Amino acid sequence: MLLLGIESSCDETAAAVVKDGRQVLSNIIASQVEEHRLYGGVVPEIASRRHAEAISGVVRQALAQAGVTMDEIDGIAVTYAPGLIGALLVGVSFAKGLSMATGKPLVPVHHLRSHIAANYLAHPDLKPPFLCLVVSGGHSHIVKVEDYTRFKVIGRTRDDAAGECYDKAARAMGMPYPGGIALDKLAHQGDPTAYPLPRPHVEGSRYDFSFSGLKTAVINRLHNAEQKGEAINKADLCASFQATVTGMLTDNTLLAAQDLGMSTLVLAGGVSANSGLRARMEQACREAGIALYAPPLPLCGDNGAMVAAQGYYELLAGHTAGTDLNAVASLPIDQE
Ligand code: KG4
Ligand code: ZN
Repeated sequence: MLLLGIESSCDETAAAVVKDGRQVLSNIIASQVEEHRLYGGVVPEIASRRHAEAISGVVRQALAQAGVTMDEIDGIAVTYAPGLIGALLVGVSFAKGLSMATGKPLVPVHHLRSHIAANYLAHPDLKPPFLCLVVSGGHSHIVKVEDYTRFKVIGRTRDDAAGECYDKAARAMGMPYPGGIALDKLAHQGDPTAYPLPRPHVEGSRYDFSFSGLKTAVINRLHNAEQKGEAINKADLCASFQATVTGMLTDNTLLAAQDLGMSTLVLAGGVSANSGLRARMEQACREAGIALYAPPLPLCGDNGAMVAAQGYYELLAGHTAGTDLNAVASLPIDQE
């Protein structure tokens, strides 16, 4: 079965063709990141305009690179939630038009579900149930994946997402948007014990995260140093920040895995590309006797292949939509 996947929830216009939810035949991404960098973050209005300009070409290219025509496609999967509403609407409207014109089923896909499905593309043996840490620019969740289309949220951030915290800390240190990758790189040259940072716990929940206090602590540390004319060692601050965030993510996820008796752990989302998180998770899972899976780096960020992969399982489960499908800015992963 061949699925066309379309993604436009944030600042990447992407389309891909995937066979049986597992084999990538093409994966085209048009990134707008250079343009948003000028403003230090994603500008929603610009994102929508760029999606509208790019989407036809990106979809055409995805079909061409896969060597297939629309006739051979069995379903059109599209990200419909959550994300920037104007950006989502471009993909949803395009997919609806394509579905109406071709008569192919329209398959709505939740963005976080698709991030999780990126793992199916790289790991043929991976099957639910498993526990997943989904960490992106907008979300930080610990999710029990009971089946391909059945999810249960075990823990979540109470404020900022991990990726957002990375980007804001990086910005305060003068790194260009999105600073997560740059911070990760510089962290390798620093001492993770140099700057003690707070590790907030969420009262009454073993698995929830809170990152906003950490972000503020980094910004305050920088301001204090500036006021006193003190030099800050950026590599040391990056290393301390990375150790703190990855420690929080790893500890809560392992705790949940052990409490729930889960023997398989999966990482997903843009922040799953983080080298510190991957290393720390690998060590913790090895010690706990838990199998760990993570997407290959090119599939950690937003892409169309992960949408087509999840779309395949949604289509098998009968989750299709009519032309009344709408984009939704905010939607829990476990809600239909
Ligand atoms: O999943 P994603 O591509 O988009 C959303 O759905 O939000 O995630 C983007 C986020 C950004 O905040 C980016 O800085 C972060 O993932 N990111 C990283 C790394 N690579 C990407 N954060 C930390 N370390 C990295 N290596
Ligand atoms: Zn994403």
